[in-house]
Amino acid sequence: MSLAVVILAAGEGTRMKSSVPKVLHKVCGKPIISHVLKLVCGLEPAKIIVVVGHQRDKVEKVLGGGVEVVEQEKQLGTGHAVLIAEKSLKDYRGDVLVLSGDSPLTRGETLQKLIELRRRTGAAVALLTAVLKNPTGYGRIIRDGDKIIRIVEEKDATAKERENNEVNSGIYCFDNDELFDFLKRVTNDNEQKEFYLTDIVQIIREKQKKAVGMLAEDETEILGINSRKQQAEADKIIRKRIIYRLMDEGITFIDPDLTFVGSDVRIERDTIVHPLTFLEGEVLIGEGCEIGPSVRLVNTIVGKNVKIQNTVIKDSVIEDDASLGPFCSLRKGANIKKGAKVGTFVEIKKSEVGVDSKVPHLSYIGDAVIGENVNIGAGSITCNYDGIEKHKTVIEDDVFIGSDTMLVAPVKIKKGAMTGAGSAITSDVPAESLAIERSEQKVIKGYAKKLRKAKKDKGN
Ligand code: UD1
Ligand code: CA
Repeated sequence: MSLAVVILAAGEGTRMKSSVPKVLHKVCGKPIISHVLKLVCGLEPAKIIVVVGHQRDKVEKVLGGGVEVVEQEKQLGTGHAVLIAEKSLKDYRGDVLVLSGDSPLTRGETLQKLIELRRRTGAAVALLTAVLKNPTGYGRIIRDGDKIIRIVEEKDATAKERENNEVNSGIYCFDNDELFDFLKRVTNDNEQKEFYLTDIVQIIREKQKKAVGMLAEDETEILGINSRKQQAEADKIIRKRIIYRLMDEGITFIDPDLTFVGSDVRIERDTIVHPLTFLEGEVLIGEGCEIGPSVRLVNTIVGKNVKIQNTVIKDSVIEDDASLGPFCSLRKGANIKKGAKVGTFVEIKKSEVGVDSKVPHLSYIGDAVIGENVNIGAGSITCNYDGIEKHKTVIEDDVFIGSDTMLVAPVKIKKGAMTGAGSAITSDVPAESLAIERSEQKVIKGYAKKLRKAKKDKGN
């Protein structure tokens, strides 16, 4: 039997109090709707239909290919939103899974079970429910024994009905055959004057058809995001799931509550992640590394046995046995080769630091290629920008750059050369040579003593 999926994402999300449509707010670094899409793609459905409306252009942009987008011009309610998908399902036979674009926590296995339940029971609808400690805001499930009679929205519920803490997840599996016939009978005779999808349950019962419920084992799976508070809760739950999975794979997290790992992060075993580490986007970390405390890695590849502390790295590659920090900033295109060291207060951009080379203190390295076994003295920088264009610095193997050298690019320091501390190097330095550029030192004997005495005589 085939499967079609309808994702409802036309609403504004008023309760978020935002100019950004709700489904585009992020949890764990990704738009809420992208989590839902990833989840349903795992079910390999024949069709995915996304109902958009409020700021549709922005929402469409994050959907990517492989989905059919339909527009609900006016957001008249969830029931009305599903009706918009009718045309796209005209010649379709099979199950229709309907979910909200604002509920990113459901698991694939749970959806699979819900679909199987509908198929097994031949019900017109199988819906996922959960028992919540605090059911506020959710539709309540009204039962007669095992049977689900109807769903009542919080705003329409009596005080007694509100006490009921079994709630509607907003996730349903329908049989496409009669779905739209039933839907067309839904009216907007309620508190919000909306066409509620939830009213379909009562209609199904009235038509002597079956509505079956499946209680979620883990109630966090049904959490919908309507407010910033729920957004933060969802973020925490997804983050924990990711970290616990990595722990099972052999990674140590000193404090999972204080570590932030995105869903596209891969880490190999025996790596230790210290608190206040943020791993965002596509990050790959090899075996035996020590990352953190206070490290932010964005779209970065890290080799084996690398140590990084108190550092921000974006769009870069760090090779095996390198060590970085504390307090480095590596911007787009840094490549730190095997065994290299980048130390305190160093910024690197679009540059290569060669095997076993060191940039230990207070440097800026931009648009440079540094060879193997090079030492860059404290405070040295590449002057790569003349105010109009960027220029390249090349430092070949075994070079020693004296402290506080200004390398005015374009410039090349050839193999085995040295620069004297405090030099402004403006032209290429030949191999194995010393380049020194500073005015000669003057010594005025006894001057300091004379000055101190003069000050003392004046009384300070
Ligand atoms: C809905 C359910 C509620 C359930 C809860 C679970 C209804 C009437 N209520 O309430 O029983 O407990 O989800 O999270 O269905 N949308 C549209 N077009 C519309 C209205 C909404 O596409 O006209 C979309 C929204 O963008 C959202 C989803 O449908 O992604 C759910 O709408 P929302 O307003 O969040 O419903 P809830 O009040 O959470
Ligand atoms: Ca919702």
